[in-house]
Amino acid sequence: MERNIIYLDTVDSTNSYLKRLAKNGAKEGTIVLAKEQTQGKGRKGRSFQSEQNMGIYMSVLWKPQCELSQLSEVTAWVAVAVARAIEGVTKVSPGIKWVNDLILNHKKVSGILTESSIDCATGKIQYLIIGIGVNVHNKESDFSEEVGKIATSLECVTGKTISKEILQKAMIAELEILYKQWPTGKREYLEGYRKRCITTGKDVIIERNGEKYEGKALEVTEDFRLKIKLKTGEEEIVSSGEVSVRGLNGYLS
Ligand code: BTN
Repeated sequence: MERNIIYLDTVDSTNSYLKRLAKNGAKEGTIVLAKEQTQGKGRKGRSFQSEQNMGIYMSVLWKPQCELSQLSEVTAWVAVAVARAIEGVTKVSPGIKWVNDLILNHKKVSGILTESSIDCATGKIQYLIIGIGVNVHNKESDFSEEVGKIATSLECVTGKTISKEILQKAMIAELEILYKQWPTGKREYLEGYRKRCITTGKDVIIERNGEKYEGKALEVTEDFRLKIKLKTGEEEIVSSGEVSVRGLNGYLS
């Protein structure tokens, strides 16, 4: 895949920007990096705090041969790739909160938002925009009160100065490895995911159609879904789109 990196000072959202480029035929592998996002997007319509020079705000355009049902799998692989990059550069090892939040000291340091464009006629994926945000330089006081309860940064956790440029490069290198491994390298990513997953073994609450069900997360399945034993004794396998899982720290994923 050809490397094409676009550096921006400020943008609404690197995902939205790349989506606009993709609609105009941008090449697979195009990467957008911004110093600041004015409307950084999180999952489930939330926003992602993206102040100038605090973090890495990156989106990657990918056109994988995969089924719609594999979308959450792609995102899970990306979580492993980003965790590896962070580990390599900072020497601290983030946990993965199912399905794709990277956690250090019980707080989120990185989130991933994958957006897709589907061809209505064929049902096939036209392209994916994989958006990754990493909090790097933020001090505790840089987060809003609400966000500070659930988010931290690599510098807060390590107490060291972390180079955004070095981490960015490491992330891009890991994404290129991932791209080459898709889909045959699944075993390695699944093992990497299971090893880092902090949700398994925890009490969780599933929220579905306004109802809440309590249970325990048992394992990450072969297709990166979560097997849960409900309090009723029944076992269920859930995927990210249909449920919210609440860990003990109260953070909704
Ligand atoms: C989440 O935690 O819910 C996902 C956060 C994803 C944030 C990244 S930052 C780069 C890209 N552009 C966006 O607007 N969002 C993603």
